[in-house]
Formats: sequence, structure tokens, C-alpha cells
Amino acid sequence: MSLRLPDATATRRRPRTHDLDALVVGAGGAGLYAALELKRDLGPEARIGVISKLYPSRSHTAAAQGGVCAALGNTEEDNWEWHWFDTVKGGDYLVDQDAAEVMCRDAVETIINLEHLGLPFNRTPEGLIDQRRFGGHTRNHGEGPVRRACYAAVRTGHHILQTLYEQCIRHEVAFYDEYQVLDLQMPDGVGGPVTGVIGYQLATGEVHSFLAKSVLFATGGFGKIFKVTSNAHTLTGDGVAIVYRRGLPLEDMEFYQFHPTGMYKLGFLLSEAMRGEGGFLVNGKGERFMERYAPTMKDLASRDVVSRSIYQEIAAGRGIDGKDFVHLDVRHLGAEVLNKKLPDMSGFIRTYFGIEPLTDLVPIQPTAHYAMGGIPTDLDGHALADERGTRVPGLYAAGECACVSVHGANRLGTNSLLDILVFGRRAGVAMADEVRRAPDPQPDAVAERAVLAGLAELLEGMEGERPAVIRAELQETMFAKCGVYRNGALLEEAQADLRRLRERARHLCVQDKGRRYNTDLVEALELGFLLDCAEATVDSALARTETRGGHAREDFPDRDDVEWLKHTFAFRWSEGAPPRMAYRPVTITKFPPKPRVY
Ligand code: FUM
Repeated sequence: MSLRLPDATATRRRPRTHDLDALVVGAGGAGLYAALELKRDLGPEARIGVISKLYPSRSHTAAAQGGVCAALGNTEEDNWEWHWFDTVKGGDYLVDQDAAEVMCRDAVETIINLEHLGLPFNRTPEGLIDQRRFGGHTRNHGEGPVRRACYAAVRTGHHILQTLYEQCIRHEVAFYDEYQVLDLQMPDGVGGPVTGVIGYQLATGEVHSFLAKSVLFATGGFGKIFKVTSNAHTLTGDGVAIVYRRGLPLEDMEFYQFHPTGMYKLGFLLSEAMRGEGGFLVNGKGERFMERYAPTMKDLASRDVVSRSIYQEIAAGRGIDGKDFVHLDVRHLGAEVLNKKLPDMSGFIRTYFGIEPLTDLVPIQPTAHYAMGGIPTDLDGHALADERGTRVPGLYAAGECACVSVHGANRLGTNSLLDILVFGRRAGVAMADEVRRAPDPQPDAVAERAVLAGLAELLEGMEGERPAVIRAELQETMFAKCGVYRNGALLEEAQADLRRLRERARHLCVQDKGRRYNTDLVEALELGFLLDCAEATVDSALARTETRGGHAREDFPDRDDVEWLKHTFAFRWSEGAPPRMAYRPVTITKFPPKPRVY
């Protein structure tokens, strides 16, 4: 059978090469802020590239709705130490407190910088940046909700992305849009250095080699491992899986956040800002049930607490009509708030449900939203090779694909936008320093050959299963067996399911054999990434025999600080086999673990 390979793979001995000083993979907020910082630090001559599988303006940062937090204290008293405490408590004390300190302390300056870059925040009548309430953000260590989220209507992420993209264009960052990253270049093996990546250009089907002295993965999350998710189709864990395949560890993968208010069955996000502005949840009996689970913070308790409460109501038969959803009530907010402060959400409800939020109750269910775990890094974004903190030269990670770890076992709303800004920027600074010192990067011929062979094999197959069929089963399994509540038996079932799916995924049929925009091929590649992320999630969830934050084990219902005040590091040593697990202590500098009450 003749191979119908993309031209470049068939006709060139080596892929086309791009020589850069620094390369960022992923054009969301973390990647763009790093790229901008690299340019500002190294000067206009520096060759800084950003590759992205999308056009930058479509990156998932744009989907972040309700706000980015900083203790500005513009509308009521606040300070960054309260924010620090809330972040640590929100993360169920698995947060590395030195990292969270950096993030909360830097938050104020970060917001002011963003404003100076041109971000159009909402204003108070006095002209200050306006702030709203969000879950788990409290006044004076838990006394009650505080207004800490700075926002631009409910398009905060969109405006951050636009602002940073404009600045990157202004500083002549080189953009390589619509390139799917396929592998790292690591010519000397697992310990590094990383010298670039290999990418697949969607428009031409060509394979390209990107060489750089430092590489940042800012590739986002992997919510598409779940059936009901707020994540876009492109969130398939590409960077996370690539690192894992290369024998590098993934940290705290068992902690996946389910946002309480996804649109029922669709998963689209109805921002926590709806509860921040005064909305509340009601069960099938019309009760405001969060009053029972979180007497002080009520509907603004942390997300893990609210999502679990919803499931408890459903399990007790108090879902709407006994079904698997509850209602969000925002009717009392009135047209002014719904249409001006929450316009997108109100629009989604009208468009997708055909109901009127001013008069109707809105059906919601928890939706898979955010990965707390990912590629372990230090405070400057250096990727770590092991639990002892050894750095991988040349490799950095920031944003949702990374685990620094500021979110611990459960992230607070609006801390994700802050995380990408603070740690994206810090990674850019550290990368610039490495660029000044690093030798010229060498290509990884073995990786290049493996990528070409892998693509050829996928395109060659004439018989086999469609990637979408296996992906759908993977998403069903993960949602049913590794969701808000887990237990050992369900997780073992999920493990076996994933093993069978991986076996089936060895024989895929990519029907489109063409070069241009071969989305069929990309789906097959993404399926491989999803399988890796799902396996690491389930294996890590099985290992952790306690309940903490977003990891609720029915068979181990309590937090166990004696045994489990530590991070998991999963290392893959053989495809399809359970990983080797290692552990790293949590960094506690100020707040000793306490029972968590909201
Ligand atoms: O609910 C929201 O607007 C989501 C924000 C976040 O995940 O930080």
C-alpha cells in the first residue's frame, strides 16, 4: 500500500526548521504574557515565537467569564493576606503556600499593569476598578464574602486575551497559528535539555521543527476527557500528555474541578458571577439548600463544596422532579444586572434553553471545568523532572497545563486568570535569563523520525475505528466513574475501560487522507492525548485514599493529613501500564491545616 503522507513528510529529509531564541506553545493568557515579557526583556531583535493550534484570539482564556481577583479593596476592605488564606483554605491545604503567597501578593500590581496595557475593566461610580463577589473569597479569614474579583462585564478573559495579543503584535512576536504540537525535542533524553518542539501545520499538512533555547508549554487543560464540560473542543491536554509520554512527571492529576453551574446536559458555563451578584441554588422542593451545607458563605462556598452539595441533594431525591439537576434562581436580580453585568449568561440561557432568566428558573448541573494538576513547576515556571525539584533545562510550563501548585486540591474562582498572568509573566522572565546563557539548540532526529512514522501509520490505516467513537466512550467513562464522587471500585472499572479503549485506539481509521486541514487526523492525535490524561487522572485518583478538595472518595470520606498532606507525582514508564507514583511534601509556611468550614 502506498503512503499518502503530507508533502513535507514524504519529500524532505528533514522537516522545515524555525530557529528561535524562545518558543511558547499555546496562545492563551499565560503564553502571551510570557512572550510579551520575553520581548520586553530581550529586546526587539530577540526571536520569540508562539505556536498555537488555534488563532490566538480563539484561545480558551477568552472563555473565562466572571473576573480576575486581586485584593485592591476598591469597594470594601480587603488585603492580600486574606486572599492568600482563602486560596490555601480553598485548596484544602494542599496548596504550596510559598507559591500562593507570590500569586496573591503580586495580584495587585498585575491588575494595575493590565489596566495600563489597556484592559477595559468595569468601574465604580468613583472611577475605580469595580469588584464583585466570587466563591471562597472572604473577609478576614472567613467572616463572609468579599468583593475581590475585578471584571469586564462577563468577558474578563476575552479582554485579557485581546489586550495581551495586541501588545504581542505591537512588540513583533512571531505567531505560528494553527500548528498542532506533536512532540518535544529532547536530543539527550529525559533529563533534557529541551531544544524545541515538532509541530504539524494544519493548513498544509507539513511537519515543522521549531528549535529554541527555552520552550514554554502553555497549552491549557484537558476538560474534554469528560462528557459534560465547560471546556472547548480543543482542550485535549496536548502539552500535558507530551510531557508524560517523555517520562516526565505529572503532579496532582487526581484533582479535577467540577464547576457547580454548568448548563444542564450542555455543560456550558454559567459564571459564578451569577451567584456573586446574588443568584442562588434551589432544589426540587424549592429550598435554598446551600444554607445547610455552608451556613456562612452559602452559595459562595468553594466550588468543590457546592458541587458535592448538589450531588447530595440529587442523591437524596431532591433534584428537580427527582432528576439529576437543580435550579439556579436569578429572577430577582432584575433586568439591569442580568442584561448589563451578566449579558452573556443571560444570552446563553435564552438561546440554548429558550427560557427567560428574569422569570424562569435555570436548570444546572456541575460541569468539568478545570485541572488543578499538570506539569510540575517551580515558582519561575521551570518544569520539574522529579519530586525532588530537579529542573528540566529549557522547559517551562504555565497556566492550566502546569501545577505550581497554587490551587492545591480545589481552585477558587478567578484565581485561574490570576495564575496565568502572574506565572506566565514569571516564566517569561526566567526564560529570558536562560536564553542569554543557553547554547544553540540541537535538533532531536529520533523524535522527528518518530513523529513522521506515527503520522504515516495513522494515515495508512484503511480499516479501524473512528476516533470520535472511542472519544465519546472515554468521556462517558470519565464522567460516570471519575466525576465529582469516586470510589475504588468505580476507578478500577474506569482503569479497565481505559485500557480497552487504548487497545482499540491502536487501530484507528483516519478517513481523510488529504493534506489541508485534516481535522480527522488531528482528532486521532488528540484522542491519544486524551487517553494519556485520562489514565494519569484515574491512576492518581486510585492512589489517593482520602477525600480532599475536588477529589471526593466515597470509600475514604475524610481528609487524611497524616498520610496525604503531599503531592502525587505520576511517571509513565510503559504505555497503558499504571504509572510509578512518587510523593512530594506540601510547602506550609503560614497556615496550618484546619477543618474546612464555609
Ligand atoms: O464562573 C466563572 O466565571 C469562572 C471563573 C473561573 O473559573 O475562574
